[in-house]
Amino acid sequence: MSHHADPASFRAAASRFSTGVTVVTSSDADGAPVGMTANSFTTVSMQPPTVLVSLKRGRTWQAVNATRRYAVNVLAADDVAIGRYFAGATLPQGAPAFDERDGFFLLPQAIAQFGCEVVSTVDIADHTLFIGEVRWCHHQDGLPLAFYASRFRNGLGAEIMPGDATAYPAEGWTI
Ligand SMILES: Cc1cc2nc3c(=O)[nH]c(=O)nc-3n(C[C@H](O)[C@H](O)[C@H](O)COP(=O)(O)O)c2cc1C
Repeated sequence: MSHHADPASFRAAASRFSTGVTVVTSSDADGAPVGMTANSFTTVSMQPPTVLVSLKRGRTWQAVNATRRYAVNVLAADDVAIGRYFAGATLPQGAPAFDERDGFFLLPQAIAQFGCEVVSTVDIADHTLFIGEVRWCHHQDGLPLAFYASRFRNGLGAEIMPGDATAYPAEGWTI
């Protein structure tokens, strides 16, 4: 007999893993943009540059599954309305405008953009991990939007070790 964590406590515990917020875009059968808010974005490897997103079966899943291409747009702190819109909320001004580059749909105000081609998929329950090689990326300065404990937040906390303590020391780890 298998045993699973209770869904409510799983949701609450998982929500304590703070993340950024992205909008994953692709194109539908008519070539029109579709997109969804996703915080499951993860970098997978540097060589070759590879990322993944975990998408529930729906409109965007269908588009990514058909085209085998998606773009990841990392939202800035002041784009909470866009994060809500692509999770199903309405926006008074209607759909945000996309730029198009090499068939990827990009939000110009995103602090980072990745254009990806699907190289592998893993189906898990009603989700699919779409593993994508990054063909193109771009970034610009800006405060990140964060998601923590089921709330959108301003994602730039104070540095824990100000000064020259970088995440990846050149030689070994010295605390
Ligand atoms: C902050 C946030 C993060 C989300 N992350 C994901 C995710 O990683 N994968 C997913 O399937 N849905 C995620 N969702 C839910 C989708 O954005 C939502 O179900 C969306 O309407 C699906 O769009 P679709 O109809 O194009 O499939 C997230 C929602 C929010 C608010």
